[in-house]
Amino acid sequence: MDLADLRAEYDVGALDTDSMLDDPISQWWSWFDHASENGVHEPNAMALATVDEGGWPHARNVLVKGVDAHGFVFYTNYESAKAGELESSGRASLLFSWLEVHRQIRVVGTVSRVAPSDSDAYFASRPAGSQVGAWASPQSDLIDDRDVLEGAVADIHARFGDGDIPRPSFWGGYRVAPITVEFWQGRPSRLHDRLRYRWQNNAWQIDRLAP
Ligand SMILES: Cc1cc2nc3c(=O)[nH]c(=O)nc-3n(C[C@H](O)[C@H](O)[C@H](O)COP(=O)(O)O)c2cc1C
Repeated sequence: MDLADLRAEYDVGALDTDSMLDDPISQWWSWFDHASENGVHEPNAMALATVDEGGWPHARNVLVKGVDAHGFVFYTNYESAKAGELESSGRASLLFSWLEVHRQIRVVGTVSRVAPSDSDAYFASRPAGSQVGAWASPQSDLIDDRDVLEGAVADIHARFGDGDIPRPSFWGGYRVAPITVEFWQGRPSRLHDRLRYRWQNNAWQIDRLAP
């Protein structure tokens, strides 16, 4: 396959400032509902980009588990590589790639940990296997082989038996509070629509960007 010849035409929708909702979170939910109903696989998956202390960017997927006026919440290991980068910079970018509907949403924002009670509540709602997995994986660390994980899982089962599994103190949520949110809609001939919300003077301003 010749990558140079691989291209899709985008002709399913258009964006204009007048039809955008006043705030980007309501707009995100409107697009999320549309993506969910139109065959987007895992529409709550998003790329999370962080920058390390050397200025190197790192991106990986995580699952958004809450979106409201305060921002976008996901859960992870507080001792992972991403957590170190989130805590030292206090900043992150998120990218939702809803390619089936020719859309993407880019978020830039500031980062904080969610309240421990919120992390407890979400952890308690997870399947038991995921709870054990959170305990067992020293996320981002080097490990010799898979047996290390299997051994850790056996240890966690022995420790908690059939009882409730509490949230590990090293695992919980982060919230990205947006300062900009850009909605991108593919259009024919690469003349795509890009509308960006920017928090300014205590209100959301919407600007159009060249594609
Ligand atoms: C679709 C998808 C969803 C994921 N969701 C999460 C998640 O919610 N939390 C998480 O810690 N890792 C998640 N991961 C794994 C991360 O991409 C990543 O491998 C891991 O968090 C370690 O990243 P780090 O070493 O940069 O900290 C997901 C991966 C994929 C492909």
